[in-house]
Amino acid sequence: MKIRSAEFVMSNSNVTNAPKERMPEYAFIGRSNVGKSSLINMLMERKDLAKISGKPGKTQLINHFKINDEWFLVDLPGYGYAKVSKKKRTIFQFFIENYFKEREQLVCTFVLIDSRHDPQKIDLEFMKFLGENQIPFCIVFTKADKLGSSKINKQITSYKKKLLNSWETLPTSFITSSNTGLGREEFLKFIDGVNQDVAKDFK
Ligand code: GTP
Ligand code: MG
Repeated sequence: MKIRSAEFVMSNSNVTNAPKERMPEYAFIGRSNVGKSSLINMLMERKDLAKISGKPGKTQLINHFKINDEWFLVDLPGYGYAKVSKKKRTIFQFFIENYFKEREQLVCTFVLIDSRHDPQKIDLEFMKFLGENQIPFCIVFTKADKLGSSKINKQITSYKKKLLNSWETLPTSFITSSNTGLGREEFLKFIDGVNQDVAKDFK
């Protein structure tokens, strides 16, 4: 898929204020600092469409980006950031949960996982939440450049094996690096395919 346009539309803390246009939407979620915003920039080949930071907790709101005037990407705040106060964490959970439960145009969620890490409770719990709410998701392994190519395959095979302890089947997954552009074409091809599959529901 060719990216002809990518524009920031708005930031919200309440899903009811999100764009009303009926277009397929894809959300990016995962631990703070896993590389959600960087991946959006890599996919769109734009340096600072989504705001990134070395410090976790950069993205704080629900951010909508309109792509090719046909679909939306959504950059979400990360979970699992220890320094956020308990009160803020509860508010965060509430508005993120609401986003996932109420956003009808959401067609697929990308759960980002740092390629170097073994399955962590918070990620497994989040995938469980998506499963329980019948929200389709893919796993996106990020920062692949930080591992060598032989190590990465070993690590991801082991990750998937562990996932099969709690899931009967594995979701589609991608291996990406925002630094090198690894996985970009495959990722966009997947979105293109889903856009075509759901086109009839968005007429
Ligand atoms: P929050 O908005 O805080 O939840 O973080 P985020 O998940 O959006 O992460 P962000 O894209 O801001 O990236 C966090 C840090 O990881 C930044 O310092 C990025 O430069 C770095 N980073 C992101 N992707 C990659 C990657 O593919 N490779 C490497 N080496 N670093 C990356
Ligand atoms: Mg971010």
